[in-house]
Amino acid sequence: MAQELRFDGRTVIVTGAGGGLGRAYALVFASRGANVVVNDLGVSRAGEGHSSAAADKVVDEIIAAGGKAVANYNSVEDGDKIVETALKAFGRVDIVINNAGILRDKSFARMTDSDWDLIQAVHVRGSYKVTKAAWALFRKQKYGRIINTASAAGIYGNFGQANYSAAKLALVSFTKTLAKEGAKDNIHANVIAPIAASRMTETIMPPDVLESLKPDYVSPLVLYLCHESTEESGSLFELGAGFVAKLRWERSKGAISKADPNFLPGAVAAKWNEITDFSNPTYPNAITDTDFVSLLEHAKSLPPNPKSDDFKFDGKVV
Ligand code: NAI
Repeated sequence: MAQELRFDGRTVIVTGAGGGLGRAYALVFASRGANVVVNDLGVSRAGEGHSSAAADKVVDEIIAAGGKAVANYNSVEDGDKIVETALKAFGRVDIVINNAGILRDKSFARMTDSDWDLIQAVHVRGSYKVTKAAWALFRKQKYGRIINTASAAGIYGNFGQANYSAAKLALVSFTKTLAKEGAKDNIHANVIAPIAASRMTETIMPPDVLESLKPDYVSPLVLYLCHESTEESGSLFELGAGFVAKLRWERSKGAISKADPNFLPGAVAAKWNEITDFSNPTYPNAITDTDFVSLLEHAKSLPPNPKSDDFKFDGKVV
């Protein structure tokens, strides 16, 4: 039988762990031997008020079950204070789960600056601040695991969530860059787009669907990615209800034109089918996966760009 993945001696910070997904992660990490920092500001779904009760309750649950945990009530925007709590209680940090989040859903027309700013502050700046505070420790100890939390809304866009979707996609590229910079120091970063029953989703789904979307069904991937034996880094996963899938960028084969004064919008239009044809795609994963030097070399040998008469404006080819 495969061995249980254990986290004995590891310290994990879980932000927003007073409820929903964060609570599920905190409980299961603790049950597998980790020291857990249960961070939660105790705010409403929209980020209002604050209380220590949510974090305290989860810490009590962990301790009652024989685990090790400490509460922290700071906002993720004060990430250094959360890391300080971990160091004071356990002397180290090995894993950061950036999970805290709020919603300010509104159509873009009605969205205010504060709806925008607060969402960026909690999700993007908060993930940055906690990670930044742990980063130097990770580099020094040549070990670190980071999970950031995106959302399907960030990947695909979603009505009423311009602020939230922008913040959530930012966390995908944040993760990919951390993975590249952390690789040499055994620091791995991955990002998840979960779907789970919580106060964020309880009003938009029927009870029987929510039942099969327990946060407990998101934890297994998070634990797997954070284990010392796991090599995966820089990846995005969509998951929930037992479903787990990896996502990647897909780029059409594209079209190439001569880079000369005849490269006009009409030439783009003439090649539109090629530009948007996904029958022979590539899957770039780094800036260097686009070889502009050889593309340019190739373009030099091409015949002049197509100038279709279909693309005339004011008597000129456009
Ligand atoms: P939740 O509302 O149950 O939990 C979020 C927790 O974060 C709350 O306990 C809240 O007090 C805490 N929090 C909020 N702002 C904070 C701050 N500034 N500092 C510290 N703690 C703070 O929500 P849920 O569903 O568990 O969400 C967890 C994460 O997963 C969020 O980032 C959310 O955007 C993301 N997510 C959830 C989905 C779902 O289906 N539940 C879908 C996609 C993404």
